[in-house]
Amino acid sequence: MPGYYDLVADRYRLAGILGVGGVAEVRRAWDTVLRRPVAIKLLLSGCDEADRRRFDNEIHTLAGLSHPGLVSVYDAGTIGPMPFVVLQLVDGSTLRDRLAYGPLPVIMVCELGRSLSEALGHVHTHGVVHRDVKPSNILRDRDGTVYLADFGLARAAGTTRLTRSDQFVGTAAYLAPEQVRGGEITSAVDVYALGLVLLECLTGVREYDGSAIEAAVARLHRRPLVPDHLPFELRRLLTLMTSPHPRQRPSAYECARILQAIGRSEAVGPITTKARVRQHPWRSRTQALLAAALASLLVAAGSTDAAHDAAPPVSGELLVTQQPRGPRADPVESSDSLAKAHKGVHKNKGGKGKPNRGKGKHGW
Ligand SMILES: Nc1ncnc2c1ncn2[C@@H]1O[C@H](COP(=O)(O)OP(=O)(O)O)[C@@H](O)[C@H]1O
Ligand SMILES: [Mg+2]
Repeated sequence: MPGYYDLVADRYRLAGILGVGGVAEVRRAWDTVLRRPVAIKLLLSGCDEADRRRFDNEIHTLAGLSHPGLVSVYDAGTIGPMPFVVLQLVDGSTLRDRLAYGPLPVIMVCELGRSLSEALGHVHTHGVVHRDVKPSNILRDRDGTVYLADFGLARAAGTTRLTRSDQFVGTAAYLAPEQVRGGEITSAVDVYALGLVLLECLTGVREYDGSAIEAAVARLHRRPLVPDHLPFELRRLLTLMTSPHPRQRPSAYECARILQAIGRSEAVGPITTKARVRQHPWRSRTQALLAAALASLLVAAGSTDAAHDAAPPVSGELLVTQQPRGPRADPVESSDSLAKAHKGVHKNKGGKGKPNRGKGKHGW
């Protein structure tokens, strides 16, 4: 690992640490050629071949996407055997940092959710599932622009799995029920995770906490509690986003449309759900057998939903990570303008158009 003032690739002068994840460290750096600040993500020593392939996958996935809500990839290379990637610097904080101070107002959550949904919509349109939407992967710069970061677990639709347990990698607190059961991974898992993140922004409390296994299995026992005092349309949307049935969840673009309408106190209209990106269209006999085994384990552990829902096939072991428990916080704030948006039933059928792609500004 390079030292504090090392020059990476004869070009990037390393400075302070911006963040450290499971296998990588992100450092602030100065691009001596273009004379601008950047972020460099370096794989930590001690990681294995699978980590290296994930890192490679992250670089290539992100490099193939371009959206105001995603950080740009500027450069990539290796320091000896260790790969690094140079990213657009987001000079600000993570949503996780912000949530340490308590919940966000409804209006801010709608705007944050809209921006993230649009970025996710772009990702899904390109056949990619992020699979790790969570507060520490959501960044906000001083300007108020929000970014979805960390494509380390992202997968292109239809690609072969990188590792045996690949399908279950993720953060326990935000896994969709089908990820826990080893079911088909579609873009709907990102919508579910975003639903839990938005709920956490509103309540200041992580919905599914405890140990990794407890958190993962808890969502099979009970649906998230969406507070009654939230605006009706927001409650309706969050309930659909966190539905245990992937097909009942709206697309990311549909979420963006609705959150924009709620934020602007406009009519929401019917919420459409639709078919989405499939990650693994094929199933093997072994996978089906493993699925049955995991389903019976979950039933034995007391999961009621696991028994009732068609148990999808399993293709690996449960491998989840966990974050520290979030803070208990104050009651949710609401706003007058939002309350107005929820009076009456609206029949707006214009739900198919993509919402405005402008940068989201947030004052968290
Ligand atoms: N482009 C960036 N600009 C500023 N900080 C960043 C950037 N990318 C990541 N970080 C910081 O580094 C942390 C870890 O980065 P992340 O990509 O999530 O790595 P990991 O894959 O190890 O979780 C983030 O939570 C954030 O604090
Ligand atoms: Mg991360």
